[in-house]
Amino acid sequence: MNWLKDHPRFAIFFCLILCACNNATKIDEENTVQNITWSEHIAPIIYKNCTPCHRPGAAGTFDLLNYDDAVRTANKIKFATQTRFMPPWPADNGYSHFVDERTLTEKEIAQIKSWAENKMPRGDSAKEVQAPVFYKGSFFGKPDLVVKMQKPVKIKGNGTDLFLMIKLPYQLLADTFVSYVEFVPGQTKLVHHVNGHLLSYNADRTFNYMSGETILEDAHANFKEAYEKMNITYTDKKEPALPTLMPNVVYYLPGYTPPVYNEDIGGFKIKKDGAFFLKNIHYGPSNADVEDSSYINVFFRKTKPKRPVFETQMGTFGISAIEPKLIVPANEIKTFHTKVTLQSEISILSVNPHMHLLGKTFWAFALGPQNDTIPLIKINKWDFRWQYYYTYLHPVKIPKGSTIHAYGTFDNTDKNPFNPFHPPRQIEQGEGNESMQTTEEMFQFIFTYMPYKIGDENISLKR
Ligand code: HEC
Repeated sequence: MNWLKDHPRFAIFFCLILCACNNATKIDEENTVQNITWSEHIAPIIYKNCTPCHRPGAAGTFDLLNYDDAVRTANKIKFATQTRFMPPWPADNGYSHFVDERTLTEKEIAQIKSWAENKMPRGDSAKEVQAPVFYKGSFFGKPDLVVKMQKPVKIKGNGTDLFLMIKLPYQLLADTFVSYVEFVPGQTKLVHHVNGHLLSYNADRTFNYMSGETILEDAHANFKEAYEKMNITYTDKKEPALPTLMPNVVYYLPGYTPPVYNEDIGGFKIKKDGAFFLKNIHYGPSNADVEDSSYINVFFRKTKPKRPVFETQMGTFGISAIEPKLIVPANEIKTFHTKVTLQSEISILSVNPHMHLLGKTFWAFALGPQNDTIPLIKINKWDFRWQYYYTYLHPVKIPKGSTIHAYGTFDNTDKNPFNPFHPPRQIEQGEGNESMQTTEEMFQFIFTYMPYKIGDENISLKR
């Protein structure tokens, strides 16, 4: 210590280091051993970030509904959070924020670890937060109408993808306003994606849309024939060639819940006679014969919709071209771009980036007329399994004349663990429904929006 006396500046320096260390130990202590309890620390994390999916009828592989569930699976929980495998949230929350963001802070991850490694104390149960209560069979609550399939889908255990068209007809007492529609998958591990429309029928029709086939192999190009078999159109000369067809009313991907806004935003009218028509429902390969009875929940609203919500898509099948053409050569990592310039002012509500197994990163933003950047979404590590509709906290105003850009990078090398082919082979965007096959590629940026109104930036989109 004599040396320190001779060098006072170093003494100060040492003290700083020691003090810093002391502080660090204090923070660590707070986070470790007996102090971390289920009641005070862990339950709020699990209930907010895990239980929505880890409960009966949801996609998670086991239930996390209470203390006992968490104790039983503590090691798994620790592992899944340490590796950042769970909760799944591909969007970069340093870039843009969304409603119901499910991400854990470093501190929360450390707390779970320490709790799991220290005998998982319950703590003071009086301090415990209430477990969230979910209505069975819906993410939201009791639906006003449940539309079921007339018969279940039979899935063969032959290990191949299955693409179907399914009609779910209904009859109401009167025309009704609808707030939103929720698709509830039966075979949660097999239902891959669903894209469904709404068919509406006039009272003077002469054919019975309630009869006819309800499940058919995807018709690909020959929809006319399929519609005839399903008895939904083309059978009556008095009707137009197609019934009123409202696109994208039913949508589903694993982990997806429909965006739900306040009473002022969204909603539409349905006629008393109609059908949900799943124009493509894609089941992934199954190794056993099983049946699926997915269904649709409809939530009514009392008032006429005030501000309808529109949806558009850029890229594959969309309003803007992909540059260059979507061809990903074997053993290459390649980036594609698509852009669109807006002719009017809009408020974007939610976004849905879409790619398949070769996806690596995704990035979308708008460049305003003054070249100012409006961040939209960034995904640094694409995961095919989690393709949410991300809803912004507030509508994002995009001024007239702005250009929306989206960049998608695809990894067609052997290093991509999701590459469906080894050795890799050239992958392209398929024609029509072929693109829906998971082994083909798509590059889409889908967004919902409404024409901009002053004050939109202040509306909360939280449900
Ligand atoms: C968006 C829905 C969702 C959320 C939120 C979610 N999970 Fe999961 N979880 C799943 C699904 C689906 C699987 C199966 C994934 C697979 O097999 O690829 C899964 C798998 C797991 C597994 C591994 C499977 C097993 O049986 O061992 C663990 C552990 C897990 N989740 C824990 C958690 C924890 C802890 C949280 C919260 C911090 C959480 N999950 C949040 C949907 C979710």
